[in-house]
Amino acid sequence: MSNEPSTTTPRTISANASAHARFWWHAAAGRGYEPDLYRVLSDAEREVLLAWYDDTLERKLVGEMAVPMASAVLGFVNGSGVRRIVQLGHFAGYSCLMLGWALRRMGAERGLFSIDINDKYTASTQEWLGRAGLEAHVGLHTSDSAAPECVAAARAYLGGDPACVLIDSSHQYAHTLAELELWYGALAPGGLMFLHDASPMAAKYDRSGEGGVRRALDEWLARAGAPAAITLLGPEAHGQEGPYADPSGLCLIQKPWES
Ligand SMILES: C[S@@+](CC[C@H](N)C(=O)[O-])C[C@H]1O[C@@H](n2cnc3c(N)ncnc32)[C@H](O)[C@@H]1O
Repeated sequence: MSNEPSTTTPRTISANASAHARFWWHAAAGRGYEPDLYRVLSDAEREVLLAWYDDTLERKLVGEMAVPMASAVLGFVNGSGVRRIVQLGHFAGYSCLMLGWALRRMGAERGLFSIDINDKYTASTQEWLGRAGLEAHVGLHTSDSAAPECVAAARAYLGGDPACVLIDSSHQYAHTLAELELWYGALAPGGLMFLHDASPMAAKYDRSGEGGVRRALDEWLARAGAPAAITLLGPEAHGQEGPYADPSGLCLIQKPWES
């Protein structure tokens, strides 16, 4: 598979986006362009992603992060050469493909360790990693992402402490609190944590009805010694404009260099 930038006229994700709600970013008025996170893909990579979209739509596996969060995370990873990433929640594999290709462009092997509680999602994502040629770059693990054994498994795979942890799993208050406790402790000094669904609106994704990621963050960040955090909030509804365009929100936490 070639990693060379395209010189022909490739099919784009935007042109192939259907009216399905998962493509809300592309459907918004004024966004008549292909975002850069897809432009950097080779034609062959983009064809894999288009096939992934078709397959997961057919299998009703829709729940991946959208363009604003993926662009933010990929920007940090590529811009700082982050080579040790842990993801909590890989679902059907979108973020593993996008991060895996970014790591491959950076020449980084064993750069992403991704955990999901559902073994069927792990098996399916593994298949897509094979089609994408990313087996050397991404490792998958089936477990509850708040299980302490995951930290040692991640360190063993990555060859050190994670420099970046993406939390995008249960979205439940108590579980997110446990993830914050466990993975903040595991982060390297100066390390970054990204939490999807950090907006007050996204609290409704907590099936336990206990306040979701937002409540977990509010309580965890209010403790003595907690690090600084910034939560990016989006517009009220998907598809509306906003400097940060995802209504689900994104929280970014940095562990101090000295702690
Ligand atoms: C929103 S999806 C992740 C999407 C993925 N980050 C992406 O952008 O492609 C959430 C995933 O978290 C997983 N999950 C839910 N509860 C979990 C838990 N307790 N431990 C680990 N994974 C969990 C689900 O199985 C699901 O695949």
